[in-house]
Amino acid sequence: MSTHQNLFANIGYQNFKQFAADDTLTLHEKIGFPNAYRENKEEVILKDILSKLTHLNKTHKTIVDIGAGCGQLTLDLIEHCQTHHHRLIMIDSEEMLSNLPDVECVVKMPGCFPFEMMDQLDVLRGSIDAVLCYSVLHYIFQEGNVFAFLDQALSLLALGGQMLIGDIPNHSMRMRLFSSPTGISFHQDFTQTNSLPQVQHHEIMFNTIDDSVLMSLVTRTRLQGCNAYLVPQHPTLPMANRREDLLIHRP
Ligand SMILES: C[S@@+](CC[C@H](N)C(=O)[O-])C[C@H]1O[C@@H](n2cnc3c(N)ncnc32)[C@H](O)[C@@H]1O
Repeated sequence: MSTHQNLFANIGYQNFKQFAADDTLTLHEKIGFPNAYRENKEEVILKDILSKLTHLNKTHKTIVDIGAGCGQLTLDLIEHCQTHHHRLIMIDSEEMLSNLPDVECVVKMPGCFPFEMMDQLDVLRGSIDAVLCYSVLHYIFQEGNVFAFLDQALSLLALGGQMLIGDIPNHSMRMRLFSSPTGISFHQDFTQTNSLPQVQHHEIMFNTIDDSVLMSLVTRTRLQGCNAYLVPQHPTLPMANRREDLLIHRP
């Protein structure tokens, strides 16, 4: 197990900048994951993303990746975009993006989305075929205004555009899991103990996304003129039993 496991509690954009520049960390750790959560899982994760952001399977599209990171999943996405002749606009800190290769199809847009880059976003509004924001929303929820994030991201979509806000930890889903016999066995296998998982209902959960947040994002997206769906992750994904995806289609 990684010696860096405790580093990843309560982190945000500034912490990620430090991780990105810290060469004692692995690529998984630079993006805030203990190795065990991502190692060798990138292929199934990308496959799941491609099954939802179907424009990525076409050619010559313009894609924006918000909170791109620098792990193997990101490198695989770059390769996919190269072979499909897409233009891939990658948004993250300068430090994080500097870990990525400079390839022709990639445009690096350093900064904290959305407010550090409003001028550049103005140029892109209404022109993006697919927006990906994977494993990032919970950091934005803690640090920023999740509705401002959503509105800015929606404004990028072209007609017929797609957006996947993926890998969202949902506390309510986690509590449903751990209230069930399936979740209790899962917890006991994971901890190698006979203990029961902690289940909190009707308590204040600071900085935590739950059904109320996700349902309100769905409602807001729909009232902003796009279709929105909460969809499951493929069951082979490492956190599919407690995370889900928000998929958006602009008509
Ligand atoms: C857990 S990593 C996910 C990286 C990548 N999407 C993946 O799934 O492999 C979260 C990333 O989001 C970036 N990030 C967090 N908040 C951001 C914001 N407001 N604007 C741009 N990047 C952000 C962090 O720097 C970090 O690289």
